[in-house]
Amino acid sequence: MSKLLALETSCDESAAAVVELREGRLHVLAHRIASQIEEHAQWGGVVPEIASRRHVEALPHLIDQALDDAQLSIPDLDAVASTVTPGLVGALMAGSITGRTLAALHDRPFVGVHHLEAHLASVHLADESPEPPYLVLLVSGGHTELIRVDGDCSMERLGRSHDDAAGEAFDKVARLMGLSYPGGPAIQDVAVNGDSTRFSLPQGRVSKPGGGFYPYDFSFSGLKTAMLRQVEACKRAEEPLPLADLAASFEQVVVDVLVQRSLRCCVDQSLSTLVMVGGVAANQRLRRCMHAQGSQQGVAVHLAPLAYCTDNAAMVGAAAFQRLHWSAMCGFSSLQLGVSARWPLENCAPLYQSNPPF
Ligand code: KG4
Ligand code: ZN
Repeated sequence: MSKLLALETSCDESAAAVVELREGRLHVLAHRIASQIEEHAQWGGVVPEIASRRHVEALPHLIDQALDDAQLSIPDLDAVASTVTPGLVGALMAGSITGRTLAALHDRPFVGVHHLEAHLASVHLADESPEPPYLVLLVSGGHTELIRVDGDCSMERLGRSHDDAAGEAFDKVARLMGLSYPGGPAIQDVAVNGDSTRFSLPQGRVSKPGGGFYPYDFSFSGLKTAMLRQVEACKRAEEPLPLADLAASFEQVVVDVLVQRSLRCCVDQSLSTLVMVGGVAANQRLRRCMHAQGSQQGVAVHLAPLAYCTDNAAMVGAAAFQRLHWSAMCGFSSLQLGVSARWPLENCAPLYQSNPPF
């Protein structure tokens, strides 16, 4: 097993990639993405029906382009992998059916991949791949989680957001500031020349029922409300919004919270490696701060390559290889494996076994 075709269609990016495992390292031979973001932006969020249709339209061309880029055809490949959970069911179905059909027609094995496991595997596409055990900060549009990964693919969630995910907070705050979707890159651009100390914003802690706080959990709803208050105050005073300073202050507080709690969790768990993946891991301020503070605390920081932070198919290929090569318990998925809107990351193994869980 050395080369595979991978497909990603869980939300609003259609993507195809060809990934190779050579001399123990993953190589992306081709990766193509067709983003639907502009089309969904006019509706203020992802419209599931439009997403499914666009995936169906885009996939044949993307697969063709990826194979062309890699100068390969399907018989040259050893397997086909598609994201099967979590995500929008119709969208997942487009990639899953395409993947399973290609696998069946060309008599190749199929691997149905968990989208979050794919984000976690994206770090193995970097030049230096970390060895478990390590802590992963997964920060995307739908998730903000701290996950301990040990050898044999076992995972344990140690921290999470109790309300919005960090990416969702970026998107919602950008919207109330009148910036475009997706909010993360928009806020990052505007924040570049801003004063990050101008506005004092709350760090959002989650109280324990018996007193104190959950040390590794997150809450972004208070921060979002504080940003709304600032925007409203400017509007009432009929002053122009200090966009750069607001964006920089917001970005800095999100970065501080993510960096401090992740590193504290690492140190408390006696882990010396931290991995950061997911769309928000593309944030430049976050990448800089995590590196700087990690090295001060003796924690080696591994970041997913920038191109593979936001949704893509190369990370799906990486997860498939990881399951096939680094986990003795798992193999290929059944062609009967369907799709599911939700599935816990901690219980991924049944996806890669002959008896499908959905
Ligand atoms: O991982 P991803 O592509 O999709 C999910 O699986 O959710 O993440 C998308 C999220 C969006 O919320 C987007 O605003 C955020 O990642 N994002 C960023 C940046 N680039 C994307 N957030 C902060 N800074 C960025 N540069
Ligand atoms: Zn994602």
